[in-house]
Amino acid sequence: MSESNIENVAMVGAGTLGGQIAWHSAYMGKQVTVYDISEESLEKCQAAQAGYATIYSTDLNASEADIEATRSRLTFTMDLVEAAHAADLVIEAVPEVPDIKIDIYKKLAAIMPQETILATNSSTLLPSMFSAETGRPDRFGALHFANMIWALNLAEIMGAPETSDDTLTRLTAYAVEIGMVPVPISKEQNGYVCNSLLVPLLQAAQSLVTKGVADHETIDRTYMIMNRGCTMGPCGIMDVVGMGTLREIFTYWGTQLGDQEMLANAEYVSEHFLDTGRTGLLAGKGYYDYPNPTFQQPDFLDIPQMSAVPALAAKAKLS
Ligand SMILES: NC(=O)c1ccc[n+]([C@@H]2O[C@H](COP(=O)([O-])OP(=O)(O)OC[C@H]3O[C@@H](n4cnc5c(N)ncnc54)[C@H](O)[C@@H]3O)[C@@H](O)[C@H]2O)c1
Repeated sequence: MSESNIENVAMVGAGTLGGQIAWHSAYMGKQVTVYDISEESLEKCQAAQAGYATIYSTDLNASEADIEATRSRLTFTMDLVEAAHAADLVIEAVPEVPDIKIDIYKKLAAIMPQETILATNSSTLLPSMFSAETGRPDRFGALHFANMIWALNLAEIMGAPETSDDTLTRLTAYAVEIGMVPVPISKEQNGYVCNSLLVPLLQAAQSLVTKGVADHETIDRTYMIMNRGCTMGPCGIMDVVGMGTLREIFTYWGTQLGDQEMLANAEYVSEHFLDTGRTGLLAGKGYYDYPNPTFQQPDFLDIPQMSAVPALAAKAKLS
């Protein structure tokens, strides 16, 4: 038995993050059952495994046997009871919409064994918003992973006031067991450390696009020169996050804070990306087209040829 005492994991939500957490946990030896209400999402999640297999082989040196073993530890279901009835840990990664999360917590409360720990992967919401709805406030907290879990191996651990020490210890141990660097959060904070830094950056970049100040390549190029060595800029990151989640964050926080700029950004993302199918990296298109987005081209940060001056000067003309 492991330090965390967590062997069986139920992943609730098979979207961008749910798929990654499930695959990575299985890769690190956990038995994982993935649940989603949408058959299409479950199918997409399974299809995404081919991509993860390639990434884990190339980036993490995973052998074919490792990949096969990972696949064998994953099960997919649309039956919540099947997913959660024997889970040591249930990780929730449903949309960043409080009512959806509350609904699933209430359903889970009736199914999960007494000792099961429930963790939310919410990007910006607080565990204390939901503690009472879970029916197990002492065994509930946030375990937040970053997108591209195999490379950005962070796990933020944040409790609500009612979360027990044992739960925090087991969540931290679980994070270590699956190869994460734990980030303990000592005070409830919307966005932990990671998104307290990232969301303002994405909001700032999106505002520049929404207001027509600069295009996405110009913004990313500027950021990537300011932070030499980084592999993408904020618009590239938005593709990785996914436009659906981005809109949810802008809409929720725009409404909560009465922030008109954020609400305008939510509308821009809806109109220009979600309504046009450019939903982000998983769809192969968002701000950029994938594979081979322009920001990965070797000359992306180069001093341009003189022949590019007229086009650049035209962009500098005030509109
Ligand atoms: N995308 C990111 O970069 C990122 C990073 C860290 C944390 N998160 C957080 O993880 C959570 C999920 O985000 P995502 O980007 O994976 O979202 P997503 O939209 O890609 O996936 C959400 C999934 O939940 C499913 N779903 C909806 N209602 C459900 C229900 N009642 N029961 C089960 N499944 C349901 C959807 O079918 C979909 O497959 C959010 O709280 C988000 O803030 C996202």
